[in-house]
Amino acid sequence: MGSVVDVTEGMFFPDEKNVMVVRDLSKYFPVRRGLSDVILRRPARFVRAVDHIDLDIPEGKILSLVGESGCGKTTTGMTLIRLYDPTSGSIFFEPKEETLDKLKREVGNLDIYNGYIDIAKLPAKYVKFLRTDMQIIFQDPYSSLNPTYRIYDILEEPLKVHGIGESEDERRDMVLKALEEVKLVPAEDIAARFPHMLSGGQRQRVAIARALLLNPKFIVADEPIAMIDVSLRAEILLSLMELRDKHKITILFITHDLTIANNISDYIAVMYLGKIVEIGTPDEIVNNPLHPYTKALIKAIPIPDPSMRNKLKDIWIKGEVPSAVNIPSGCRFHPRCMDYEFHPEIQERCRNEEPKLIEVEKGHYAACWLY
Ligand SMILES: Nc1ncnc2c1ncn2[C@@H]1O[C@H](COP(=O)(O)OP(=O)(O)OP(=O)(O)O)[C@@H](O)[C@H]1O
Ligand code: SF4
Ligand SMILES: [Mg+2]
Repeated sequence: MGSVVDVTEGMFFPDEKNVMVVRDLSKYFPVRRGLSDVILRRPARFVRAVDHIDLDIPEGKILSLVGESGCGKTTTGMTLIRLYDPTSGSIFFEPKEETLDKLKREVGNLDIYNGYIDIAKLPAKYVKFLRTDMQIIFQDPYSSLNPTYRIYDILEEPLKVHGIGESEDERRDMVLKALEEVKLVPAEDIAARFPHMLSGGQRQRVAIARALLLNPKFIVADEPIAMIDVSLRAEILLSLMELRDKHKITILFITHDLTIANNISDYIAVMYLGKIVEIGTPDEIVNNPLHPYTKALIKAIPIPDPSMRNKLKDIWIKGEVPSAVNIPSGCRFHPRCMDYEFHPEIQERCRNEEPKLIEVEKGHYAACWLY
């Protein structure tokens, strides 16, 4: 057993116990080099999809990760559950007791920090042991279920892979119960169908049932309603909220839609170009946004409160999201930031120094030189 350090407290939500504590985490993808790059010996370049982020994920809560397309949400979610290998940094996660026992037996020299392990450092061959603890629900319910399998087989497979259920009968009971849990009834009828015999909303609920079957502590839900008919979205959101309330499952909910994040989450983290720029409760983020980028996101959604509309009247974003290969210096939002224009006294800082996430108001964090 390694040294004991207190990673369990986290730094963003002092009243919560965290299921995951993420520190200085990065995920870079190498940019393919052309022949001229090789001949001219240009240095290797990287897409800095996730760039040194800190985040705490409170147990039994829904934390939404919000931002524009390409800002690194999916890469963050995939890296947190080790579907991607991190480039650097730490992901302290508290596994289920039985998972920790298994890991202790399998991994020589496993460092344990108050019941948490740094899964960023877990060698790839042991990552499969995390699957009973962490699952993902993908955006596209049309491609995430094997079309040649019946729903029953799709759901039974992970149980077999992980040796869960003593007998065929026991596994059958578990599968039918999971379908009932997500309100796919009569479960026997649904279990006998192929994916193409279900609606998009029903398929997404099968995906939720599949995640649920392994009794995970932590689920990443990556834009789970984006491809579903508007009329069916509410029931998927309700299913996820039920997982939190009834099963105490922690959910990282990924969305580009602040309105949905506001409705479903306990906390919101706003991401811009590989960085977390603001963290707070939905009320703080939506009614008292601090970071100019968050203000611009809110400006883009219909807000019924006229006083808020007045507060945000001069806020907009200039231009396009820059490439994650050539990230602007200093505050990476500065080329698009209107506050940068309005506040000449901080411009040099904005251009040259990267602001860190600081607690601006109680429980409300922002990374911006205005604060
Ligand atoms: N496998 C990959 N290889 C190379 N670059 C990648 C890979 N996956 C993502 N990227 C790049 O990393 C950046 C972040 O992408 P990511 O998919 O994480 O964003 P996102 O916030 O989920 O966007 P969206 O809202 O469109 O789903 C983008 O610049 C993207 O092109
Ligand atoms: S640090 Fe400067 S450029 Fe960045 S968001 Fe704040 S005001 Fe805008
Ligand atoms: Mg994505």
